[in-house]
Amino acid sequence: MRYENKITIITGGTKGIGEGCVRVFADAGATVIFCARNEAQGHALEAEINAQGKGSATFIKCDVSKVEEVESLIAQTVERFGRLDCLINNAGWHPPHHPIDEFSVQDFRDLLELNLVSIFAACKAALPHLRKTQGNIINLSSLVGSMGQLYATTYVATKGAITAFSKALAVDEAAYGVRVNSVSPGNVYTPLWQEAIDASPDPAQTRADGDAAQPLGRMGTIEEAGKMCLYIAADATFSTGTDFLLTGGAELAYGRKSRVH
Ligand SMILES: NC(=O)c1ccc[n+]([C@@H]2O[C@H](COP(=O)([O-])OP(=O)(O)OC[C@H]3O[C@@H](n4cnc5c(N)ncnc54)[C@H](OP(=O)(O)O)[C@@H]3O)[C@@H](O)[C@H]2O)c1
Repeated sequence: MRYENKITIITGGTKGIGEGCVRVFADAGATVIFCARNEAQGHALEAEINAQGKGSATFIKCDVSKVEEVESLIAQTVERFGRLDCLINNAGWHPPHHPIDEFSVQDFRDLLELNLVSIFAACKAALPHLRKTQGNIINLSSLVGSMGQLYATTYVATKGAITAFSKALAVDEAAYGVRVNSVSPGNVYTPLWQEAIDASPDPAQTRADGDAAQPLGRMGTIEEAGKMCLYIAADATFSTGTDFLLTGGAELAYGRKSRVH
């Protein structure tokens, strides 16, 4: 119960990494408020967590690409629970892979709104409350934001910006005792990853390649992602502006990278 009664907002909490955070934080005693667009999935997870009797979960429908909905999520949380201790900005999307010729400028603008502007807006709305509790922010970035990825210019740009933004905000907010960190997953097995498997010409091979991208020989789990976020929120009190890698070593050593030979 090492995050008991801490008021924690998790965006995109119904599936994948966000779901892992909801489960792990509630298990540690936190009062979790989570959002997504699909209400049925939100209420199902809310009921399951609340039946367990550790911590609590409250689902609020919110599309983070709409700034007024993000502001309302934070306002409703503070109105109902009185304060805010932690904000986990997790909701985001990886579009299908294409060369730059096949992404429109509007595609890029739309993804910036969803993956990046939403985080700016959430931080801006939450900070007046986080300064009162000396709380913390965790932004979900990606390993590819620092190493690049084939046919993913728009996504990689949003993620590189999330890591950079987190460092700049950490510098500003240190004066108030608020920590700001990012988490960069490599391959964590989630519904988003399964979508990529299903869309590929050889799904079994794509899954095997996903596992083999790590020296550890497997993808991460959503629980492992939740545990890293709980460590940052509850224990890593001397870390701010840090990009925490959650990668199983995917960034280590040489691999087969040329597509020419
Ligand atoms: N999985 C990986 O290997 C990996 C690697 C690097 C980075 N990441 C990052 O980690 C984060 C989570 O990824 P994931 O793999 O867990 O994704 P996922 O399996 O697709 O789950 C995404 C969650 O976010 C919600 N969501 C999506 N769009 C939203 C919106 N506009 N407003 C509110 N909620 C929204 C989804 O619910 P609804 O659809 O109902 O809204 C769902 O709960 C993303 O930022 C992703 O870029 C993941």
